[in-house]
Amino acid sequence: MISQKDWVRDLVIYQIYPRSFYDSNGDGVGDLPGVIEKLDYLQQLGVNALWLSPFFASPNDDNGYDISDYRAILPEFGTMADCDELIRQCHARGMKFIMDLVVNHSSDEHEWFRRSARREDPYTDYYYWRDPVDGHAPNNWASVFGGSAWEYCEERGQYYFHLFSKKQPDLNWSCPALKQEIHDLIRWWKARGVDGLRVDAISYLDKPADFPDAEGEPTPDGYVFPAPLLLGRPGTHAYLHELNEKLFTPLNLVTVGEVSLKDDAELADYVGTARGEFDMAIPFLPPVAEYRAHIPSMLRDRLKSRYEIIPDGWWAQFMSNHDKPRQVSFFGNDSEYREISAKALALVNHASPGTPFVYQGEELGMTSLRLDSIDQYNDIGTRNEYRQRILAGDTPEQAFRYAADLSRDNARTPMQWSAAPNAGFTTGTPWLTVNPNYPGINAEAQLADPTSVFHFYRRLIALRKVHPALRNGALRMIDGGHDDILAFARETDGEALILAANLSDESHPAPEALRGEILLQSYERESDFDGATLRPWEAVLVCVESHIKEQ
Ligand code: GLC
Ligand code: CA
Repeated sequence: MISQKDWVRDLVIYQIYPRSFYDSNGDGVGDLPGVIEKLDYLQQLGVNALWLSPFFASPNDDNGYDISDYRAILPEFGTMADCDELIRQCHARGMKFIMDLVVNHSSDEHEWFRRSARREDPYTDYYYWRDPVDGHAPNNWASVFGGSAWEYCEERGQYYFHLFSKKQPDLNWSCPALKQEIHDLIRWWKARGVDGLRVDAISYLDKPADFPDAEGEPTPDGYVFPAPLLLGRPGTHAYLHELNEKLFTPLNLVTVGEVSLKDDAELADYVGTARGEFDMAIPFLPPVAEYRAHIPSMLRDRLKSRYEIIPDGWWAQFMSNHDKPRQVSFFGNDSEYREISAKALALVNHASPGTPFVYQGEELGMTSLRLDSIDQYNDIGTRNEYRQRILAGDTPEQAFRYAADLSRDNARTPMQWSAAPNAGFTTGTPWLTVNPNYPGINAEAQLADPTSVFHFYRRLIALRKVHPALRNGALRMIDGGHDDILAFARETDGEALILAANLSDESHPAPEALRGEILLQSYERESDFDGATLRPWEAVLVCVESHIKEQ
C-alpha cells in the first residue's frame, strides 16, 4: 500500500544553519536573501528539500533555538517577505521547504512568558511554575546547559522550569490554551507554504506533575539530569499522536522528530507506521557516546539495530548537523584522507536505508574548527562543558581539548564559498571564525573540479533517482572480514547493490561479495578498485544484478 505521504521517501534533505550559510548584506551574519542567492547551487547539487534551523525572532541565547516570536523573522535574517520569497523560489525549483519547530520551550523574552510571569490569563499556566521548597528550587534536576533546571522569577514569586538554558523556559503542554496556540502556529506556517517540520527536542513534552527528585550520578555542579523521569512518557506520545492526527497527516507535512530515547527500542514508538507520530526521527545521541567507540563497529551496530527495530518505519540518515562536530573530522580522517574519507562516509550514509541528510558544507568535506582558547567559542554548550570539566577536576588544557573536540561550533563556522577573504561568506566581519583552511576547501574550486567531493555528492544524489534499491531496497548486512569494514547489500526484486567501505587508515582485503559494475568509488580521483584490496578509506558501491536495466 502506498501511504499518503509516499513522497517523503524521495527526499534528500539539505540542512541550512542560516547564520552561517551566506551573508547577502555584509553585516557578518548569514540571512534568508543569502539562501535565495544560493538556491541554484543547491539545485545543482540535486537536493530536493531544505531544512532551515530557526530563523525566527530570538535573543539568540542558544542561536535561535530560543524563540521570542514564532510568527516573526529575526531582523538579522531578513523580513517575512524574504521568507515568502524563499519558499516560493524553493517550490519553483521543485524543492520542499522544512522549518524547525521549537516548541518544547520558548524564549523567556516571548510575550507569553512575560504575561505568564504577571499571571495574566490565559497565559498563567503556559509554563511550569512552582513554589520554592524551603527557600530553594523545587527539585534537584540539572539543566542540559548546566546548573539547576529551575530559575526564580521575582515578579511572580515562583520558580520556572527550563530543561535547556534559563532563557529557554519549557512550555506547559498540559495547558489546553498553550497546546492550541501550537496547533494554530503549525496551521499558520502551513498556510505560508511550509511543507514540513523538523521538530526540536520533542521527547520531553510531558512532565511528571509532582516533579520528584531525580536519582543518579550528579553533574559536577551537583544536580541530577532527569532523563529517566522524562523520556518515553505516554503523555508525550499522546501529544504527538494528536499532532499527527489533527495536523501532520491532514496538512500533508513531512515530519522529522528530534528524539532522545530511553532505549533504542523506543525509536519504534516515534516512527513505526502504525504509531502515527513522525515520518522519521533524528535520534539525539550526544557525540560523546560515539567518541568513545570504535567508529566502524558503532556505525555497523547502529545501522543493523535500528533497521531491526523499525522494519516498517523510515529513517533519517545523517552523520552531521549543527549540534555535532564535522563528520570528516569526527568519523573520518580530515588530514591525509580528507577527500577520500569524506566520500566514503557519504557513500555509507546515502546507501543506508532512509532519507539522506546533508548538512551545509558536508558536500565540500568541510572540517572541524581548531581554536586556541575557550573564549573564542560562541556555543553555550561548549562553554558549559568546559566549566563542568573544570569542576570535575580536569586541568584547563584537558577541559579545553574535550570541550573543543565536541564543540557545536565545529560545524557552525561559515560556509566556505570561495578563496576570497572570509571564504566569500561575507564582505564584513563574520559572526564566528571562518575555518582558515578555506583557500583549499571551498565551493568555487570544487565546482570546477569534476573529481571533487561536491561532484561526488552530486553523482551520489543522482544515483538515487536511477537505482530504486537505494530508496526501497531491503538491507542485508554482509561480513566485511574485518572490524574496520562496513559492508551491506540493498536488494529489491529488480536489483541488488553492494557497498563495502574501509573506514580506517589501513588496507584490508576486500570482501568476496564486492563484485559487479562499479557505480561510485571514493578513490575515483586516483585509480579504480582492484577487486582484491580496500585501500584506506576506500568505499565502493557496485551493482550486482539489475533486471531493471534489461527491460
Ligand atoms: C536541539 C537543537 C539544539 C538546541 C536544543 C534546544 O537539540 O538541535 O541546537 O540547543 O535542541 O533547543
Ligand atoms: Ca546578513
